[in-house]
Amino acid sequence: MFPFSYYTPTKILFGRQTENQIGDLVQKTCCKKVLIHYGSGSVLRSGLLDRIQSSLHEKEISYVTLGGVVPNPRLSLVYKGIELCKKEQVDFILAVGGGSVIDSAKAIGYGIANEGDVWDFYDHTRQAAACLPIGVVLTIAAAGSEMSNSSVITKEEGMIKRGYNNDVCRPVFAVMNPELTMTLPAYQTACGCTDILMHTMERYFTNGGNMELTDAIAEGLMRTVMKNALILRDDPKNYNARAEVMWAGSLSHNGLTGCGNDGGDFATHGLEHELGGMFDVAHGAGLAAVWGSWARYVKNDCLHRFYRFAVQVMGIEDTGSENETACRGIEAMEDFYRSIDMPTNLKELGIEPTDEQLKKMAHMCSIAAGGSKGSAKKLVEKDMLEIYRMAAGLY
Ligand code: NZQ
Ligand code: ZN
Repeated sequence: MFPFSYYTPTKILFGRQTENQIGDLVQKTCCKKVLIHYGSGSVLRSGLLDRIQSSLHEKEISYVTLGGVVPNPRLSLVYKGIELCKKEQVDFILAVGGGSVIDSAKAIGYGIANEGDVWDFYDHTRQAAACLPIGVVLTIAAAGSEMSNSSVITKEEGMIKRGYNNDVCRPVFAVMNPELTMTLPAYQTACGCTDILMHTMERYFTNGGNMELTDAIAEGLMRTVMKNALILRDDPKNYNARAEVMWAGSLSHNGLTGCGNDGGDFATHGLEHELGGMFDVAHGAGLAAVWGSWARYVKNDCLHRFYRFAVQVMGIEDTGSENETACRGIEAMEDFYRSIDMPTNLKELGIEPTDEQLKKMAHMCSIAAGGSKGSAKKLVEKDMLEIYRMAAGLY
């Protein structure tokens, strides 16, 4: 077990109709003016935005709105948000939506609280000293951004998708009503469950510091998400299943399942970010499409963890061979992805990159990682290319 720091300053309000308390929550922050930030229309169609505006009106809190965030949120809207917030003297950002909206809100928050170009942080040439306070009304269980220290933005010029982690962007509160996720298309629900699993697996497949309690939490979380993902596939309005998945989403990415280990692998996320940048794929689906190839590529360098995953998470019986059991665990995970209509390779993801494009993504991925990435196995550019080629079906 390694020493660790665990910081989760986000207040959570969880359950039915909790969004009606937004006015109260924002009032307690003593802010003067709010930016309500949202996506491409689901919160208008569901009536959620109206309810939030009413709740702010009741408390006489003034606000401006900025919608239009798209999945793989764009830098240009972040700049627009920064300009609007400066003009309107906004001092609090309320993100109403999923990971994309929250990440865009965090980026705007950085842009207000720091001088200079906000992209510098995502380019890792500078550190942010502060961020405007962020509140969240979550509408999709997936990215975990409602409690995470992370924000992922795509710069249109070159379609470069980059993440930036800093504790100052962790939201001050997150309102989580599982009912709000019932309008999600089945594909987005499945993408979300995949992302939640991946955030846990990224911290599970590590070579160092693993502790029993953290493993037990991670394994329970993964079993719970898989079980409830199948329930939601057949019964999307099941409240309890929505609730289990929603809370798992936050716990999978607030640092809890990283306590004591070496911080995580995150190579699959690095590989996906290039796919998201170049092909604008849904994050969860992109992760599922490369995970199996990554797992087979790194398995021998982290064999005991793959064995433990097979037995404790996927319910595989010990075959007597650690390697054989580990391989069956990987196959079982891919079977699970197929069962919720997630892709297990790039073709199923709907893209067929050329070898030049695979090379470019491997190159960009290694640059973003500062040369190498991974804990299960440290990957450099040539490893990343091998994994992309495996996922593309070239081997
Ligand atoms: O824009 P609207 O109209 O709201 O539609 C969204 C969007 O099309 C829709 N949606 C959300 N809630 C809905 C709904 N549709 C109907 N009913 C609802 N209740 O779902 C679509 C996806 O939304 P998005 O916010 O993009 O999903 P997600 O939460 O998966 O976020 C993905 C982004 O987060 C980043 C990803 O890379 C990607 O850019 N990540 C952020 C992380 C973080 N900040 O900690 C960690 C993750 O690993 C991830 O990288
Ligand atoms: Zn993710």
